[in-house]
Amino acid sequence: MNRGKNLRLWLVLGLAVALAGAVGWMRFATPAPPTGNLAGATLGGPFSLINQNGQSVREADFAGRYRLIYFGYGFCPDVCPTDLALLGRGLAAFEAAQPGAAAKVAPIFITIDPQRDTPAVLKPFVAAFHPRLVGLTGTQDQIAAVTRAYGVYAKRMETGDPENYLMDHSAMVYLFGPDGRPIAFLPHQGLTAQAVTDLLVAHVR
Ligand code: NI
Repeated sequence: MNRGKNLRLWLVLGLAVALAGAVGWMRFATPAPPTGNLAGATLGGPFSLINQNGQSVREADFAGRYRLIYFGYGFCPDVCPTDLALLGRGLAAFEAAQPGAAAKVAPIFITIDPQRDTPAVLKPFVAAFHPRLVGLTGTQDQIAAVTRAYGVYAKRMETGDPENYLMDHSAMVYLFGPDGRPIAFLPHQGLTAQAVTDLLVAHVR
């Protein structure tokens, strides 16, 4: 084997290792989305949080109502505002088509960043997406408990500026039933307002 061939061989081997590493890392960093059906899943449960008006809110307060839930944060530069706008538009279309059924749906935004998402910050944030969107925050412990119970991944990402950190987080629209049991979810990938409307049409009675 001459020198040139040897070098090429090492280059190909190096590329293969780098590619395998990249694929492995991507699979680790972005877990494959599970199926949209959550019937029978062990997800959700009681929580005690504070709404955008500073009032205490418990999961039991939503008993008898469907809950359209999104976890994210107000400082999110792209994914959260995009998904919440689609959630708001999808729900508005359902309200126009089936106002009676839509009245049984509680749209809820739960922050994964309680340090910055105070009730005062959440108030104008949720109002921008839907007039009935409830914004919930709490102590770090309360938020850690609710994200754990609802299977939400959230991790603080430093940017070098302690005030302008980012949050890496799972992004999906959850639908829970009037009994608090999970029904289905829509992943951020491919989310549309129509998909939100279709989800509500399919499940809300
Ligand atoms: Ni986000």
